[in-house]
Amino acid sequence: MGEQDKMPGSRPAERIRFGEPRRYLVNIDSISTSQLFADCVIVGAGIAGLRAALEAAGHRNVVVVCKGSLEDSNTWKAQGGIASVLRPDDSFEAHVADTLRTGCGLCETQTVEQVVRQGPELVRQLQDWGAGFDRVNGAIDTTLEGGHSHARVIHAHGDETGRAIAETLISQVKSRPSIRVIENFFTIDLLTDQDHRCVGIIGRCKNRGLQIIWAASTILATGGDGQLYRETTNPPVATADGLAMAYRAGAVLRDLEFVQFHPTTLYVAGASRALITETLRGEGAHLLDVKGRRFMKEYHESGELAPRDVVSRAILAQMRKTESTHVYLDVRHLDKEYFAKRFPLISDLCESFDIDVSHDLIPVRPSAHYMIGGVKTDALARTNIENLYACGEVASTGLHGANRLGSNSLLEGLVFGKLAGQAVIQREPMDVASLKHPVIQYEVPQSDRSRLDTADVRNSLRSLMWRNVGITRKAQMLAEAQEIIRFWHRYVMDKIFDTPEGWECQNMLTAALLMAHAAGLRDESRGVHYRLDHPQTDDQKFQKHFEVVRAE
Ligand code: FUM
Repeated sequence: MGEQDKMPGSRPAERIRFGEPRRYLVNIDSISTSQLFADCVIVGAGIAGLRAALEAAGHRNVVVVCKGSLEDSNTWKAQGGIASVLRPDDSFEAHVADTLRTGCGLCETQTVEQVVRQGPELVRQLQDWGAGFDRVNGAIDTTLEGGHSHARVIHAHGDETGRAIAETLISQVKSRPSIRVIENFFTIDLLTDQDHRCVGIIGRCKNRGLQIIWAASTILATGGDGQLYRETTNPPVATADGLAMAYRAGAVLRDLEFVQFHPTTLYVAGASRALITETLRGEGAHLLDVKGRRFMKEYHESGELAPRDVVSRAILAQMRKTESTHVYLDVRHLDKEYFAKRFPLISDLCESFDIDVSHDLIPVRPSAHYMIGGVKTDALARTNIENLYACGEVASTGLHGANRLGSNSLLEGLVFGKLAGQAVIQREPMDVASLKHPVIQYEVPQSDRSRLDTADVRNSLRSLMWRNVGITRKAQMLAEAQEIIRFWHRYVMDKIFDTPEGWECQNMLTAALLMAHAAGLRDESRGVHYRLDHPQTDDQKFQKHFEVVRAE
């Protein structure tokens, strides 16, 4: 993979070629399909996609497509905040050291340095654009999260940081005439020419049907894949579409075994698993088991502020010990008025379930939260496919290594969004509309295998991933997961669908298979990947990345 494999500090990697017959999910005839033209098309409208659009917009015309509305993103739902060095008693060195330590030997140091150092300037720019970060005595307020040596997590409207950032970026995007946003556009695949260069995307626009967007540059910013798990903090749109389409197009995917589980999501049977931000523990909330015992110190000296993977596993172990479905967050000792002001979203959420936080405990359990692995990029957001860039959760930039430090991902989205936008404008401008575009004709081979009910497959897949490729793993469970997914994969991947539900099911199966496979290869425990049958870290054999690429 050209340049980035030669990057100084880059970790060794083992590359696996994975057989996958399907290049595209739908039949394509580029001549008869409706077409649009853009200098740059950006797939996804979270922090990374929107920031990239703003960077490229001064110099190029940009189309941003997103599968739902602009509000349907993980960014919008983020509570805790953005980690950045903004206080005089903090330092870049400390933030870099915390990130590297948490990443357990797999971070790319150059990437960590650049994200940490560029952070404060981009956070201030967000502020200038109108993001009202919370302040105390005139200075930006910062708080703690697990794994951070300093209080450096900044927030807005208490626990509505993501929404404040998203609204700011959306209003900037709407004010730039060179950016066109198309909502309800489901991107089905990245288009590549005979030289494997990315030439744009094909998708289905809710109102117009199939559409090709030819683009000189394509930026993938589709976010994560939490919906692969029965329990997740992620919105319904997080179905691994970006990972799967990049893989079909020949992109290198990396570190897919590393999935971060958030320790505390509200557990009310039948309700969706809403995030209860870690900053709550940063500000003094305790974890109690169902017998009312505070247990975290038995698992880690930092107690409630241990790294997320440690807290998630401790909760799981305590749930098993006490034969219960959940543990509790206890905030009864915190000032009620302060709590309501500092955590308005959680206050409302608890109230909606008749939980009075000054008297009642908040039932919680872990859920899938963040995909650490993704489309491999270099330090400039470039992938191995010419003209294709990736940023945000869908990318594997090397910032997180084997474990993500809380609130580093919004920061990464900002920095790599900007880098992706910059990479686009550094290329020679071209008149995309007058270019001769390749003729792309693809027909999905006919299949007479039975049709499975995709809604059923999807639900079963999510339960299987939760059970077998979850917080703790074992070789036999991972092998079983692969066998079952392969079976569904055979029956679902040979069909042609014409709705997002079908394409999502295909993407979820593709990503799940690659993730289970990667988790089976890593016979050790490192960061968020915990193998019950290999509880030790084995640097000699495994201080390396696993990469997967589609075999032609
Ligand atoms: O707990 C939280 O607020 C989550 C933050 C993050 O995932 O970065």
